[in-house]
Amino acid sequence: MADVTVIGTGYVGLIQGVCLADVGHDVTCVDIDEAKIEMLRAGKSPIFEPGLEELLAKTIASGRITFATPDDGWADLLGDIVFVAVGTPQADNGAADLRFVRSVTSAIAAEATHPFTLVMKSTVPPGTGHALIRRTLADAPVDIAYVSNPEFLREGKALEDWYRTDRIVIGSDTPDAAEAVSALYEAVDAPRVITDIASAETIKYASNAFLSTKISFINEIANLCDVIGADIDAVSHGIGMDTRIGPDFLRAGIGYGGSCFPKDTRALDFIATINGYEFSLLKSVIEVNNRQRLLPVIALVRALPHLHERTIAVLGLAFKPDTDDVRESPAVDIVPLLVEEGCSVKVYDPIAAEVEIPGATRCATVWEALDGVSAAVVITEWGEFATLDWERAAGMMTSPAVVFDGRNCLDPSKVEAAGLSYMAVGRPGAHRTGRSG
Ligand code: UGA
Repeated sequence: MADVTVIGTGYVGLIQGVCLADVGHDVTCVDIDEAKIEMLRAGKSPIFEPGLEELLAKTIASGRITFATPDDGWADLLGDIVFVAVGTPQADNGAADLRFVRSVTSAIAAEATHPFTLVMKSTVPPGTGHALIRRTLADAPVDIAYVSNPEFLREGKALEDWYRTDRIVIGSDTPDAAEAVSALYEAVDAPRVITDIASAETIKYASNAFLSTKISFINEIANLCDVIGADIDAVSHGIGMDTRIGPDFLRAGIGYGGSCFPKDTRALDFIATINGYEFSLLKSVIEVNNRQRLLPVIALVRALPHLHERTIAVLGLAFKPDTDDVRESPAVDIVPLLVEEGCSVKVYDPIAAEVEIPGATRCATVWEALDGVSAAVVITEWGEFATLDWERAAGMMTSPAVVFDGRNCLDPSKVEAAGLSYMAVGRPGAHRTGRSG
């Protein structure tokens, strides 16, 4: 079993560290955030992810995982295989901001006292690996092999995805290092894609860009369904049955959010542009997604006269269910737009309860949110909303009230039977969202 270090205990690093410890490796997780490290030592996960806290407790008890800060000294913290899993936030120009990746790489390269393999887990644009090797690792006092090993985990399903991934991608110019990294995943029964560094980096971005493209494509088709009176549920089902297309990522709605798709599509567009290539398809994917999240606001402006005098409930803040993550969630754009329109906005999310959305009133329950509102906008397809008692809701909302189902996750007949007006994205019978092109 290997001696592994994981630097960064954010989403990617923590899951990686805990899972590697679970399959038997000795893992040291390092983070500059002391409070986080203390929390982890106490067995508490700083993020909400189903099953993670249980696995954390199990691996701590096994003695195979420990937590440290860089203050303990890199020389003592570095194992034979070192994963870098620090954040790559979006810079103002859309590029990936590689400041943390660079500073960590420089620090460990300068202080290492034995050779090791550096494995890049952070999502870094194509070309980053070779630049790091050239500018930093080549001058290190010890031999450092470089491997790109992108992650494909979904938030909310990360543990399941770790053990049952479709593929493990390993890019390196050093075959022995690639082999050592592949061996870390011996317990995972998945095909390996062993390739060069730039190709591994590109596989990560191309995967997210393709999935984003599927979503923007189905959203365009849904908008078309709205205009011509077709049913997006039937259309998605019908095209998804073609095995060349596949049924996944064909759920129409108010678009993709989260910490990955929006950031990664913009970063790929930036990388293409800076290299002199005009990636027009990707630009359209991004543009469609930006427009899509405006649909609820456009629909409410049209459906409700005197919108500025009304109170609106926004149901769901998380960018998708089973996570408390609100990064780039449509809610983050929609709430300020409604506030700008002069509405009073009440927000409710079953899990993302700590997030402050300026201008909005937080509600502790869905019923508190629905009390006295003219409209409810469903942003996240939480099960609680799909099974909501709409009769009870209608009794609390002011009449005539509307429901905008931004995720096509409600049963329209139940909403309408309660006397509420139902609007969705590409569903027939639902009031048109007003898109005409
Ligand atoms: C995504 C990828 O699915 C992972 O493979 C990848 O590892 C991860 O990004 C990453 O780069 O770290 P995640 O952001 O957790 O994972 O979320 P997804 O489940 O892929 O959903 C992304 C967004 O697309 C959500 O806002 C979701 O509501 C939206 N979506 C998804 C749709 O609007 N329609 C669909 O049919 C599917």
